[in-house]
Amino acid sequence: MMSAPSDSAAAQAHVPVLVEKVIEAVAPVEGAVIVDGTYGGGGYSRAVLAVANCTVLAVDRDPEAMERAWAHAGKDSRLVPAAGRFGELEAIVRAAGHEQVDGVMLDLGVSSFQIDEADRGFSFMRDGPLDMRMARRGPSAADAVNELTEAELADIFHVLGEEPAARRIARGIVHRRKEQPFVTTMDLADFIERTVGGRQGKRTHPATRAFQALRMFVNDERGELVRALLDAEKVLKPHGRLVVVTFHSIEDRIVKTFLRDRSGHAPGMSRHTPGAPRAVAPSFEVLQRKAIEATDEEVDANPRARSARLRWALRTEAPCWSGGIDDGPRLPGLQQLEGVAG
Ligand SMILES: C[S@@+](CC[C@H](N)C(=O)[O-])C[C@H]1O[C@@H](n2cnc3c(N)ncnc32)[C@H](O)[C@@H]1O
Repeated sequence: MMSAPSDSAAAQAHVPVLVEKVIEAVAPVEGAVIVDGTYGGGGYSRAVLAVANCTVLAVDRDPEAMERAWAHAGKDSRLVPAAGRFGELEAIVRAAGHEQVDGVMLDLGVSSFQIDEADRGFSFMRDGPLDMRMARRGPSAADAVNELTEAELADIFHVLGEEPAARRIARGIVHRRKEQPFVTTMDLADFIERTVGGRQGKRTHPATRAFQALRMFVNDERGELVRALLDAEKVLKPHGRLVVVTFHSIEDRIVKTFLRDRSGHAPGMSRHTPGAPRAVAPSFEVLQRKAIEATDEEVDANPRARSARLRWALRTEAPCWSGGIDDGPRLPGLQQLEGVAG
């Protein structure tokens, strides 16, 4: 049983990104119900509760983050922990007894707690098991690396990591694992470095993109985001606010496209375009089209903020749209690895 970190330790260990802008966008008021879909170290939840006497539903799929949420709830009953995946937002909100909510905040990716703990296997800078599972359940990164085909691995590195050497790395992995399966983060990181021929003067480690791709695959991060956006459309009240912070161009594109389409600005949505679908009432209103980014001062103080993009929108009174979201090329399903993990 892991020990619950203290609430104040949590506040120091993960520096929340763009927190003031997030609070401006969520604009919590007295009596509101706000979902923090990525509780992490609770930075956003704390900031919401500091400005309004409201309820925060604290969601995270990571059991350690939920221990922090329970510690926080012990000190402030306005915080209500609700363990789970934000891809099941609607079910989580309903199970907590709410039909609709006033705000949904998502701060995507991993927390410093997860990255800094070698045992979680997220970082190639620290040696640990090749794990990367936020929920500590299901197939791990080692299962993916040791079981998927060369073509599947190449697609994952190419699509989710935008890795130029995707095919070379996948080929090398499949060759090497016949002799010796990959077990640790350092082993894989060193192998990728050797495969692509070292750093070649680059500042970033050659395994950065491949590790990111594996993490996104193992946690189905693209799928989770898509499901969360569709559920947010269902659970937000009219005038309710959706606020999403992304750190990756693939995720920012998904959010941007979703909000552009749902606010009636998609190409082809004009009723004047020949062959365009019949106009549907926008389910979101976007007041600020350009993504909000961190200032130079914030990036200096917190380098994680460099790639952060905040987008937000207001739910309108229109019904939910039918149809899903195009999240890019298909990838192998995690289901095929189910049962591989011990
Ligand atoms: C960047 S951190 C959030 C930090 C938080 N905003 C704070 O201020 O401390 C992202 C958190 O989201 C969680 N997470 C990622 N994907 C999730 C998902 N699909 N469902 C629930 N939690 C998720 C991770 O476990 C991690 O704790």
